[in-house]
Amino acid sequence: MEIIKTIKEIRYIIKNEKKLGKTIGFVPTMGALHNGHFSLVKEAKKETNSVVVSIFVNPIQFAPNEDFNRYPRSIEKDIDLASKNGVDIIFNPEVDELLDNSLTFVEVTKLDKNLCGLSRTTHFRGVATIVSKLFNIVIPDKAFFGKKDIQQLIIIKKMVKDLNFDIEIVGVDIFREADGLAVSSRNIYLTEQMRKDALILNTSLKKGAYLIINGERDAKKIVSIITSDIEAVGNVKIDYVKIVSKDMVDVDNVSDGDILSLAVFIGETRLIDNYIIGDKLWS
Ligand code: PAJ
Repeated sequence: MEIIKTIKEIRYIIKNEKKLGKTIGFVPTMGALHNGHFSLVKEAKKETNSVVVSIFVNPIQFAPNEDFNRYPRSIEKDIDLASKNGVDIIFNPEVDELLDNSLTFVEVTKLDKNLCGLSRTTHFRGVATIVSKLFNIVIPDKAFFGKKDIQQLIIIKKMVKDLNFDIEIVGVDIFREADGLAVSSRNIYLTEQMRKDALILNTSLKKGAYLIINGERDAKKIVSIITSDIEAVGNVKIDYVKIVSKDMVDVDNVSDGDILSLAVFIGETRLIDNYIIGDKLWS
């Protein structure tokens, strides 16, 4: 496995891989790698010949009051885990290498206004900008994104279409712990009690799913039941509970393909999870 820090070097290596006829699979991450990230790598290994993982904690997707400074960084451990999970190339640039007085931003309008965009108003502009820069550097054939960040996945797909990137975006199912908690780099912030409280995200999504399976279609009713369930847990604060269509518009009547989405603070830690209506439920 190669560990690359500069744009010049990664471009050179990718060109060589392509000359050898290899297809490039790309998994952008912010590090603190876990099995959620490696489920993307696994899919990338199935579908492409050479897998590049970027590790870059992207300052422009964090607002000043968010956790950029304390975001978990564990590059040595990441390198070890990545090599054990079959990653071919790690791209781990310094901030100045990628963001040297940039004045250009990519904004995918409308889709970035609902859900996480309600409280994180500049977040998706930061994500779309850094992902397009990484796409222009790595020039992958396919790039892999988790459905855990469903709004991010939808925004990136739209950006790729609108800006004519010649890259296939592959969405990968949410990877969960045995008890259903969606794996996240931020889970390490949780104390033992908070870890238990955090289960409310996936249990309330499941409850919503069962209500829908049993014929409930009224989005307001479903949201209100889930909201009271979450509020009944101590030390949690709801950012949002919503049901939206795939174009991020609130729905009144729920139908397959709509997204039941949650963002909840467990103590100080903001966790997200979602269920795409009609998809199979996790055990
Ligand atoms: P990060 O949070 O590190 O996530 C990197 C990728 O892993 C994302 O596509 C995310 O959806 C996916 N992922 C994380 N946890 C997952 C889980 N439990 N199951 C499935 N996929 C999971 O998302 C980002 O970084 C950044 O915004 C980034 C795209 C790298 C841009 O900076």
